[in-house]
Amino acid sequence: MSLTSWIQINQMEQAVRIRSRISKASSIAVLTGAGISADSGVPVFRGEDGLWRSFRAEDLATPEAFRRDPALVWEWYNWRREIIATKSPNAAHHALVRLERRVSSFKLITQNVDGLHGKAGSVNIAELHGNIWKTRCTVCGEVSHNFDVPINILPYCLKCNGLLRPHIVWFGEALDFADIEQSLDALQTCEVLLVIGTSGVVQPAASFVSAGKKGGACVVEINLEETPNSCLADEVLIGRASDVVPLLIGQ
Ligand code: OAD
Repeated sequence: MSLTSWIQINQMEQAVRIRSRISKASSIAVLTGAGISADSGVPVFRGEDGLWRSFRAEDLATPEAFRRDPALVWEWYNWRREIIATKSPNAAHHALVRLERRVSSFKLITQNVDGLHGKAGSVNIAELHGNIWKTRCTVCGEVSHNFDVPINILPYCLKCNGLLRPHIVWFGEALDFADIEQSLDALQTCEVLLVIGTSGVVQPAASFVSAGKKGGACVVEINLEETPNSCLADEVLIGRASDVVPLLIGQ
């Protein structure tokens, strides 16, 4: 037997084992990162073609950057809106919708701001880093949906005329307390935790895998490569999310 077929058979056996574990679980949590949307054509942040190779986060994704040059920051989010607006959820996003409909307790925790999980039909989502299709008033705090592409580079609040910012959690900012609480609750009580397409280097999401592990979950990581999360996972499946996730979840 060739090495390639040996690896293929072993991966298939592993997939069958995980599929059975998932089908028996009544509580499942899922943590996703940019890798799940990469197969839809949304750029990831790290790695060879990652956004942070060409752009500096300090100039574009911090409260200081927005105070210094709000038009530049809005330009960057406008550019990302233009890309994301043309993309659709892929087979992995859709498989997670089927999974949510099947299990009695389900929580999808995502670091992605592209809104593709919601577009696919997932309901119980914690968008840890916010949503690119929402704005927040810097004066009155009002959060609104805004799907304009292109967006007016300096948009203002309809209520109080304050400057609007993207409803995104930037570096140095705190995450929404309710999102963290609900996520930790799901992580500590789930039977299976799927960790899909995240590099596992940004806190607090990076520590969520150990929270799931400590709670007794069977941790399954799906990624193109090993990550700092891999040593905590019970199963590591190397492959594209849009190929692997539907295989594990089924119809
Ligand atoms: P990263 O860009 O850091 O990591 C993407 C991960 O997805 C890597 O581990 C890749 O190997 C993996 N990957 C790429 N393509 C894949 C595919 N087709 N199938 C499976 N895996 C794939 O993205 P995140 O971990 O989401 O925050 O980054 C976390 C946060 O850092 C982001 O939310 C963003 C960023 O700075 C903010 O902007 C606040």
